[in-house]
Amino acid sequence: MNNSWNKIIYKAWSPMYDKIFNSGAFLQARKQIFEHIPFDSGQKVLFVGVGTGADLELIDQAQLNVTAIDFSPDMLHRARDKFKHSSIEFLEMDAQNMAFENETFDYVIASLILSVVPDADKCFKEMERVLKKEGTIVIFDKFIPKEQTLSLPKKLLRPLIQLLGTDIGLDFEELYRRNNKHLTITEEKKVLMNGMYRKIMIRKIG
Ligand SMILES: C[S@@+](CC[C@H](N)C(=O)[O-])C[C@H]1O[C@@H](n2cnc3c(N)ncnc32)[C@H](O)[C@@H]1O
Repeated sequence: MNNSWNKIIYKAWSPMYDKIFNSGAFLQARKQIFEHIPFDSGQKVLFVGVGTGADLELIDQAQLNVTAIDFSPDMLHRARDKFKHSSIEFLEMDAQNMAFENETFDYVIASLILSVVPDADKCFKEMERVLKKEGTIVIFDKFIPKEQTLSLPKKLLRPLIQLLGTDIGLDFEELYRRNNKHLTITEEKKVLMNGMYRKIMIRKIG
């Protein structure tokens, strides 16, 4: 995975992305992610790798102060277009190197991004850095299912799927172990494909 390839591949994905990843089982999973998040009016919420804005359709964005970043101008263009009458701030930015001050956001939303960026550790560290104390990171993504190793078919498929712009072999437990200094997991549940896709909520402690 690298940023230049991601730009190319997500340009290709952009016209058809919503048909696959914002419908059917994926849409149901997204609804589960957002149904019980206790956003308060006016809170600052960052969507990391917002893509076409699929998640934005599931929140009351008019009541929040929303910023959305993505590295692909083509994906971002789709999101911008859907929300052109909103106050959402859309920015072209690398999730591994964000141009925000420390402790800016109450919530950082990371749907299908840690498995996509070239360096998940860098991205995760950045999410933690820009999150306020007592703020929450919400992750919806696919990882190696808990207490399992990558199956042989997945090992063989992994390089091919990486060419399509995502990694099916990311180990969340390892990633979290390396980066969990000021963090605590407050909720974790399987949302899709027998636990391959999970919802994980993480709070930043003081
Ligand atoms: C699988 S899509 C997920 C989009 C959206 N979050 C969703 O849930 O539908 C991955 C997104 O990450 C973006 N992306 C890839 N590398 C990135 C990077 N280094 N920084 C920010 N966004 C990136 C891609 O352009 C794409 O829009």
